[in-house]
Amino acid sequence: MIAPIQPALFERMVALRRDLHRDPEISWQERHTTYRIARELDRLEIAHASPLETGLVAEIEGPPGVPAIALRADIDALPIQEETGLDFASRVDGVMHACGHDAHAAMLLGAAELLVTGPDPIPAPVRLIFQPAEELGTGALAMIEAGALAGVDAIFGGHVDGHIPAGVIALAEGTVNASSDSFRITIRGRQGHAARPHETVDAVVVGSLIVMAVQTIVSREIDPAHPSVLSIGRFEAGNASNVIAGKAVLEGTIRAQEMEVRDHLQRSLERVCASVGQLHEAEIDFALEAGPPPLVNREPMLGIARAAAAAALDSEHVRRAVRGANMGGEDFSWYLREIPGCYARFGARPPGLPAQSAHSSSFLIDEEVLATGAAWMAEVARRAGRTLASHPEDPATIGGEL
Ligand code: NI
Repeated sequence: MIAPIQPALFERMVALRRDLHRDPEISWQERHTTYRIARELDRLEIAHASPLETGLVAEIEGPPGVPAIALRADIDALPIQEETGLDFASRVDGVMHACGHDAHAAMLLGAAELLVTGPDPIPAPVRLIFQPAEELGTGALAMIEAGALAGVDAIFGGHVDGHIPAGVIALAEGTVNASSDSFRITIRGRQGHAARPHETVDAVVVGSLIVMAVQTIVSREIDPAHPSVLSIGRFEAGNASNVIAGKAVLEGTIRAQEMEVRDHLQRSLERVCASVGQLHEAEIDFALEAGPPPLVNREPMLGIARAAAAAALDSEHVRRAVRGANMGGEDFSWYLREIPGCYARFGARPPGLPAQSAHSSSFLIDEEVLATGAAWMAEVARRAGRTLASHPEDPATIGGEL
């Protein structure tokens, strides 16, 4: 094993991860998962509370008067029918831990055990955030509003990554996840007989024009050096082959690595929809549901995260900027809007298998990642705690002397 973890602790993490994997729960339904985590915290004698309906906040006590360091794991599963054939595969129809959040919960409990059983006292209290509903992008904000960051000066977290070999921790500087907003466009035309189109306003035609017109927003309005995506994933209209549809609904998502680009995409999308509607005398209703902002790793917390990875693993397993930003969203970015921190990618590709895509019914991880993730989390909490305890004035201005 690459990370120095006791075999008994590793076995406990594997067993817990498999338990959670067998009984996955979708966003805001994580009741059994919350119960299982609470029992493990009880075993470790770590006080915990449930400020939301699901999820937990716990704290490992440290020296008095020192601000806490937070470690966060997300705990929800996805509405996907598992097809891995694992002997601990999901026994819940249509629900699967296809994003590895079962591993995140297990490795955070492993880190907690390392911190409470380690030979040295911890330099700062460690807040453990077991967050629900990451997949909806709403759990982090709810946790923040419930006070999960009160008294916390820095936060760290990470995600398993099926593209990177197990045992590697990748820490990139700058934007590592895109913003993620969803939108819904409702087109109201005039229904009528398919043989008398001149008496109608065809919502299918107007919707199709909108689908094509928005393709030029990213390709012709946004600087190609600033990655962004605008995708329409759903187009619903019509009831019969001989009836012109009076209503159509389009749904999609916009992703961007910078807030200015995100704002531009939102404005342009609304403008193009309104213009096409006016052109064809259809009524357009545009609704945007704002999701998490881009996730950006910055110094000095990135330096602490890298030093922790180097200490927890051996240096050949710490990678700098393995790959560019991922256009997927990650609601950890909400925490980084409040306090400094850093987000890691934990290599989890099983040996001998191709890269594994999360959000797929056949997603597999190498459980070795539990050891690397737990070791890094425990180490980064200690290092950040030591650094912030010696620079209590402002965590954002600490130099990189690590
Ligand atoms: Ni995920």
